[in-house]
This record gives sequence, C-alpha cells and structure tokens, in this order.
Amino acid sequence: MTDKLKIGIIVGTTRDGRFADRALEWFEGKIAARDDLTYEVLDLREVALPFYDEIAPPAAKPVTDAAAQEWEKKLGECDGFIVLTAEYNHSIPATIKNAFDYAFKGWHRKPIGTVGYGGVGAARAVEHLRMIAVNFGMVPVRGAVTIGGADFVKASKGTPIAELGDHLDAPTKELLDDMVFWGRAAKWAKANV
Ligand SMILES: Cc1cc2nc3c(=O)[nH]c(=O)nc-3n(C[C@H](O)[C@H](O)[C@H](O)COP(=O)(O)O)c2cc1C
Repeated sequence: MTDKLKIGIIVGTTRDGRFADRALEWFEGKIAARDDLTYEVLDLREVALPFYDEIAPPAAKPVTDAAAQEWEKKLGECDGFIVLTAEYNHSIPATIKNAFDYAFKGWHRKPIGTVGYGGVGAARAVEHLRMIAVNFGMVPVRGAVTIGGADFVKASKGTPIAELGDHLDAPTKELLDDMVFWGRAAKWAKANV
C-alpha cells in the first residue's frame, strides 16, 4: 500500500469577492473524493506574506520573515501543489509570484498543477506559472483544469461550478492522476536516487 500524497491547494488571489472561493469549494469536493490523496488548503489571504524583502534569495539563504518561515514549513509538508489561479494582465497574480519568490526548498522537485479560471481560463497565466515552476526544479504536469469562456461567465453569475456539466470531470481526473503519478515518482526518486 502506497502512502497517500499530500497536496497543497494554493488559493492564489486575495481580493474581496474573489472568484477563487467558488473554484475552491468545487475543487475541494473533487479532491476529497480521491482515496490516493490528502490535501491542505493554503490560502494566500491567510498566509499574508509581505512583498519580498530579504537580503538574499531563499535558495541561497533561509528567509528571516516569520510568515515566510511558516510558509516554507507548510510547503515542506506537501508532496505537490495545485494552484487555483486567475489571470491578471496576462500572467499570474502578483500574490502568487511573491509566494513563489519567498520559498525554495518547499517547492523543490515536486509536481505542480493548476485550476485556472477567467475569460480564457487563465491559460496565459498557467503557461507563465509552468515556466516559473521549472526554476524551482518542479514538475509542471500536463493535466489542467480550465474554467473559461461561458463556464466562467455562468459561474461568475452564481451557477455552482458543479452544475456547469460533466465536461470538467475528465480534465480534473487527468490533473489528479498526474499529480499522483509524478508525486509518487518524485518521492521515490528522492528516497532512492
Ligand atoms: C488586475 C486584474 C487584471 C485582470 N487581467 C485579466 C487578464 O489579463 N485576462 C483575463 O482573462 N482576465 C483578467 N482579469 C479578470 C479576471 O479573470 C477576473 O476578475 C477573475 O474573477 C479574477 O480572479 P479573482 O476573482 O479570484 O481575483 C483581470 C482582473 C484583475 C483584477
């Protein structure tokens, strides 16, 4: 029996009235139904990191800020991450980039997936995030959930995401299956290579 992997679900936006809460409520139901994963919600609103203000990058020197130290510790407890992300001006929200800048070890050599939402399902933001993740030695997985176009408009107006239809089921399964595959592979490699 393989141990369950622990996935950190990162809620990436922090503003009042954020769509992220709708995406989280729906996605938590999906991940909770899996018997091969556990998860913890890492909400950047609650983590409340300052804007990056250290004398060196975390890859070179441990961070000194107390919230950032706690952040690195939380990341270290996870085997992989799924980021719920919007697209702000064709990239990831600054809150997410700041959260990446503020850690290193906790991200290193772990899989990362996304639930993107917005007019184009945050597609451009997701591609940027994948490039950033590579610099942390992460494995950006192929599977991805995209809540875009008419789905995003309907959900923004109040239709629960679960009621949009079953077309999100297959990408959700692919994303979570990929997280399990690469999460197990990375864990095995860390112990054996
Ligand atoms: C500063 C800002 C920039 C945005 N830029 C984009 C964009 O480039 N592409 C897009 O599809 N939507 C864009 N939007 C609209 C967001 O997709 C939409 O507001 C979404 O609900 C934001 O996620 P949130 O509610 O979790 O903050 C932008 C919104 C904000 C606040």
